Amino acid sequence: MAAGAAAAAGAWVLVLSLWGAVVGDRNITARIGKPLVLNCRGAPKKPPQQLEWKLNTGRTEAWKVLSPQGGPWDSVARVLPNGSLLLPAVGIQDEGTFRCRATSRNGKETRSTYQVRVYQIPGKPEIINPASELMAGVPSKVGTCVSEGGYPAGTLSWHWDGKPLIPDGKGVSVQEETRRHPETGLFTLQSELMVTPAQGGAPHPTFSCSFSPGLPRRRALHAAPIQLNVWESVPLEVQVMVEPGGMLAPGGTVTLTCETPAQSSVQIHWIKDGMPLPLPPSPMLVLSEVKPEDQGTYSCVAMHPSHGSQESRGVSVVIETDKEGPTTGYVEGQGLGTVALALGILGGLGIAVLLIGAIMWRRRQRQRQERKAPENQEEEEEEEERTELNQSEEPQAAESGAAGP
Ligand SMILES: *[C@@H]1O[C@H](CO)[C@@H](O)[C@H](O)[C@H]1NC(C)=O
Ligand SMILES: *[C@@H]1O[C@H](CO)[C@@H](O)[C@H](O)[C@H]1NC(C)=O
Repeated sequence: MAAGAAAAAGAWVLVLSLWGAVVGDRNITARIGKPLVLNCRGAPKKPPQQLEWKLNTGRTEAWKVLSPQGGPWDSVARVLPNGSLLLPAVGIQDEGTFRCRATSRNGKETRSTYQVRVYQIPGKPEIINPASELMAGVPSKVGTCVSEGGYPAGTLSWHWDGKPLIPDGKGVSVQEETRRHPETGLFTLQSELMVTPAQGGAPHPTFSCSFSPGLPRRRALHAAPIQLNVWESVPLEVQVMVEPGGMLAPGGTVTLTCETPAQSSVQIHWIKDGMPLPLPPSPMLVLSEVKPEDQGTYSCVAMHPSHGSQESRGVSVVIETDKEGPTTGYVEGQGLGTVALALGILGGLGIAVLLIGAIMWRRRQRQRQERKAPENQEEEEEEEERTELNQSEEPQAAESGAAGP
């Protein structure tokens, strides 16, 4: 691109230096559709004159010499009585070189050369399909800048808070399209801007677009700027606030408010015990004359047109019952759940520990009894031996010993 521009500039310098060699050359820019008069320098103001106009433009194949008597070219270019050349309405095809060679009354020859270029001022550029907001860290389309009906093509450029945006393919990218009207030959330019706003950047940047004409010394045209909001891409923290806090008596009123950082263009829906409530979207949910059926876990869902939806943590609405009401009021649902879960796990662990303890204790007891058992047997055997001995010695005593426990 830069190399191409440099090459083009080089070519222009070469061409211009060649023109510069021609005596009395001039650059002319003429607005499309307007008349143009080129003077033939050195020519007498009135006939009889000795002059010749020739041109090499988009309408001619090579140099074309215009007849001073006029003819079919009159509607395009004709020689006026004072020797000047009139183009009644210049068009894109009239771009090219015009030359006049005149001989004055005293026989001095003068040549004039004009390099004619035409232009058309396009309509004011416009930013169409602008984004409503941007997300930090996320590539998003800002809008499309359109310039219609210009000639030559010119360029569109974008500005962010007044600073030019240079497409770098990363944070800033531009998709350009140039179309040419098949009949008028005028250009329509389109430039679609995508940006990735930096985290922690300006929250309300202004984007503007301007058209720079393809010809020097023509003023740039500016589109009406657009201002966008940039959301930080930290997840939206959506939460439910409850008013009043505490336990609720039947017949009372409680107001739940869904708080989101992005208040605009967010739709709030409400969920009770996992079921969406059939209510129109609203950031507030008012429960009046509450009944025991109103007890439950409430959460809100913030639906964002471009950033999806996010649900808040659930909050429990607890209605006081006549006798044994719960001891806590509004306990955050997940908190309660966690506590219950923790208690359950702890309880389960406790029971398991107790059970294992009991089993271990009993097993230990049995082992101790088993360890005792052989001794008992030995004792019994000894006793038996003794009884036998006793039997042999004192049969009555043995009888009484056997009968004893
Ligand atoms: C013709 O225009 C170019 C710019 O497009 C300029 O640099 C050059 O000096 C002009 N030539 C004359 C003779 O005015
Ligand atoms: C010749 O006539 C035209 C139109 O009447 C005028 O614009 C132009 O300046 C005249 N040329 C000279 C050299 O006076």
